[in-house]
Order: sequence, then structure tokens, then C-alpha cells
Amino acid sequence: MSRVRIAEPAAIEDAARLLKLGRLVAFPTETVYGLGGDALNTAACQAIFQAKNRPVDHPLIVHLPDAAQLDRWAVNIPDAAWKLAEAFWPGPLTLIVPKHPDVPTTVTGGQNAIGLRVPNHPVALALLSTFGSGIAAPSANRFQHISPTRASHVLDDLGARVEMILDGGPCSLGLESTIVNLTGDQPQILRPGAIGKEALEAVLGNPVLDHQLRTDPELRVSGAMTLHYAPQTPCFLCPTALLAKVLSDDSQAGLLTYSASLPNNLVRHHIRLSDQPTLYGHELYQALRTLDKTDVDTIIIESPPETVPWQAVNDRLRKAAKKLHRPYELTTAT
Ligand code: TXA
Ligand code: MG
Repeated sequence: MSRVRIAEPAAIEDAARLLKLGRLVAFPTETVYGLGGDALNTAACQAIFQAKNRPVDHPLIVHLPDAAQLDRWAVNIPDAAWKLAEAFWPGPLTLIVPKHPDVPTTVTGGQNAIGLRVPNHPVALALLSTFGSGIAAPSANRFQHISPTRASHVLDDLGARVEMILDGGPCSLGLESTIVNLTGDQPQILRPGAIGKEALEAVLGNPVLDHQLRTDPELRVSGAMTLHYAPQTPCFLCPTALLAKVLSDDSQAGLLTYSASLPNNLVRHHIRLSDQPTLYGHELYQALRTLDKTDVDTIIIESPPETVPWQAVNDRLRKAAKKLHRPYELTTAT
């Protein structure tokens, strides 16, 4: 039987059985595909790190079937966590809270804080409720590569390193969850995502710190590392006004744009995404993977506006565009 299986009930049952045996199963969520293993099984968690080539001190998010399980995984849960869980779960929000002492530190990369989330995807929820416990699941890609938003991306990245891939079609959001740290004095966004600061503040009735203001050096967030979410091909950001000049200097470049005013097919490999940030985010990783597979020697990315709705997209683009070795650096948006 093929490794990739349409996420029908029988396949979900098989996937839950594999998880019970300590094996790894990739599954769709509304954000990106996750590489799942039994969060309470130390060997399974170690296998996740190994499959991704991820350093073992980078914590894994534990996915739960519902918010009622929060206190099995965390202790001293702040009110803010319950409020946010109530408002946004199932949904693209990961809460960092103090870990329950019964949860092995393998899954948290040695930390006493744990990342928890209830994903909003029928396949993920069916798998979680059949499995009945927490599933540790980082994005199902090799370490520092782009997150997968389709089953085929997981297969490309992990192949035989994962026992089964549940195919639930393209992920509806396409960018990873918002991560909020609730272990400090004030809630703080560690990774921007579909749920923005304003929405969090509206529920909490208190200010939430932005992700740029990270103050706690103890928290290791791999998404916050300099090289991350990057295609193999060097990428750089370029303001709209400079695109024509940059392209005239580089005929071998691939191009990713969003401006409706720019013509299509400016270069041989040109992908134009939506000028709506949500739709753009939905297609971004697929577009980067497509351009990465062509023979282009650089990927030029039109810089989106520095506005709140584009925050999560800009965060991922800045990380993708870290591999810069060319004079174009001068034109890179900061
Ligand atoms: O949307 C998502 O969050 C996807 C889907 C599969 O749920 N998962 C995901 O996992 O993006 P991953 O491991 O690729 O990124 C999760 C980030 C990592 O940067 C990790 O360091 C951080 O969450 N994280 C997880 N647990 C943490 C903890 N206890 N403390 C601080 N950061 C944590
Ligand atoms: Mg990841």
C-alpha cells in the first residue's frame, strides 16, 4: 500500500494504530502538515527529531483533541490560556504554558514550558480523537526547509522517513500557527500567524507583546532562528519599484509577485500570487517549492507592504530571504 493515503476513516484508524505503536504519521492541519508521533512516547519523539534532522533541543508542539485536555499537559495554567483556548481552539493558535511534570521533557526539548494546540481540521481532529491523547507534531519538513501545505510536499521532504501520510488536500491557511508565550509576566507573540495581536488582546482585555520584542532568552523557538523556511535557491526581497531594474540585470531569476498592476510572465518562471494577504499566505509555500524546482539561480520576491495584515507573510519571507550573497542585498527591504 502506498505511503500516501486519502484521509478516509479506515486510513485514519490505521494512522492512530501506527501512532500507538510509536510510529510516525504525517497529517493535515489547517495551517501546514504535521509530522506526528505519540507525545508521551520518548522514542517516538526522538524519531521525529531524527526524521526532520532537527536538533533535539527544539521543542515540538503537542496537538490535543480538545481544550478539556489542557490540564493533563500543563500546570499552573493562567486564566489567559483558558480564555484563548476557549476563543480560538480548535484553531491556528499555539499556547506556551508550564509543562505538567508527567510529560517527558523529550517533547519540549528539555524545557519546562510546553506548546499546545487544538488544530481546526477534520482529519487532524478525527485522528486526535481516535488516538485519544496528545500528538507531538512539528511541521512535516526537513529542518530549515519550507513547511508542507500538501501531502506531496511531505513525501518530497521526508519520503520513507514517515510511515504514513494522510492526504487531506491543500491546507486552508498555509502558514504556521500563531505562537503565544503565556509563561512570562505578559503574553507575548513568539511567531505571528493568522490570529493577530488585536484578536488576542480583544479576548484577553490586556496588551499582548509583539514578536519582535522577544525578551526571554530561555525560550528556544526554531522559527525565530535566522535560517528558516528557506528554499534551496537563494531568495531576496525587492521593492516593487526596483523589480524592473533587478530583473533586467538577471535573466536567470525566478519571480514571485503580488501586485495586480505588474504584467504576468515578466520572466520565464514568474508566479503571481494574490494581493490579499490571506490568499497569498495560502499559496506561498507551494509557490516557493515550485520556483525552487526550476532551474532559476535566484528567486526575487516582491516585498509586500509592511502592514498588520501582511505580518505573518512578511515574517516568513524575511526568513526565506536570509540566504543573501548578492549585490541585491542593497535593494532588500528591511
Ligand atoms: O501550525 C503549526 O504550528 C504547525 C502545525 C503542524 O501544527 N506546527 C509547527 O511546528 O509549525 P514546528 O515545530 O515546525 O514549529 C513550532 C514552533 C517551533 O519554532 C518551536 O520551537 C516552538 O514552536 N515551540 C514549540 N514548543 C515550544 C515551547 N515549549 N517553548 C517555546 N517554543 C516552542
Ligand atoms: Mg517548522
